[in-house]
Amino acid sequence: MTPEQSEHRVFLNRYYKAARPIYDVTRKYYLFGRDRAIDDLLATPWSSLIEVGPGTGRNLELLQRRRAWALYGGVEAADAMLERAAARCPWAHFQRAFAEDADYSAVLGVPPERIFFSYCLSMVQRRDEALQHALAQVAPGGEVYVVDFADLRGLPRPLAAGLRAWLELYRVTPLEPGWLAAHGADMVLGPGRYYVLARLRRPR
Ligand SMILES: C[S@@+](CC[C@H](N)C(=O)[O-])C[C@H]1O[C@@H](n2cnc3c(N)ncnc32)[C@H](O)[C@@H]1O
Repeated sequence: MTPEQSEHRVFLNRYYKAARPIYDVTRKYYLFGRDRAIDDLLATPWSSLIEVGPGTGRNLELLQRRRAWALYGGVEAADAMLERAAARCPWAHFQRAFAEDADYSAVLGVPPERIFFSYCLSMVQRRDEALQHALAQVAPGGEVYVVDFADLRGLPRPLAAGLRAWLELYRVTPLEPGWLAAHGADMVLGPGRYYVLARLRRPR
């Protein structure tokens, strides 16, 4: 673990220890697009999925309810969230690791057919490395799927500026759709360019 990662984990643990009890109730008011992402994911065939930064395990639980026969895993940097997700999703396999260098194949014993980032990449320090790493480790023919804050350019300027400043306090930096496009993503933007849904395929 690099000194940068160790410092990030200290920050995440402090932040999520405090936020964990109210996490699911509050996030439904601003982590938009997650249910749409889940519907999208379930519209394609796959039998193994790893969520990076699963948080409280909310998304994994919803996915597992609708596709119970699949294999599920999580890669989580924060101990505070890892504990919560593991208790909520006992059928999933977890790794305490960072998106930049997690060993995805070790989580389920096989390379996953889907790697899912839901409002996680915007918090990752070296996001380019994290995205490239996921694309290299997803199974051939598989997909990396991202839902996250987009560039907010469709919102009134003062609102977008205020939201950016508030997100920065929690080390969250919205994603530039152009950056995802440069990695070959197929994208859909949510209302006001608030969020982006992006699908990146690994060729067979
Ligand atoms: C905003 S929460 C999103 C949680 C969940 N995916 C959701 O949609 O509700 C971001 C999550 O990413 C995790 N995280 C942040 N940086 C990370 C990193 N570099 N590697 C892995 N997980 C990370 C945080 O600990 C947290 O659980």
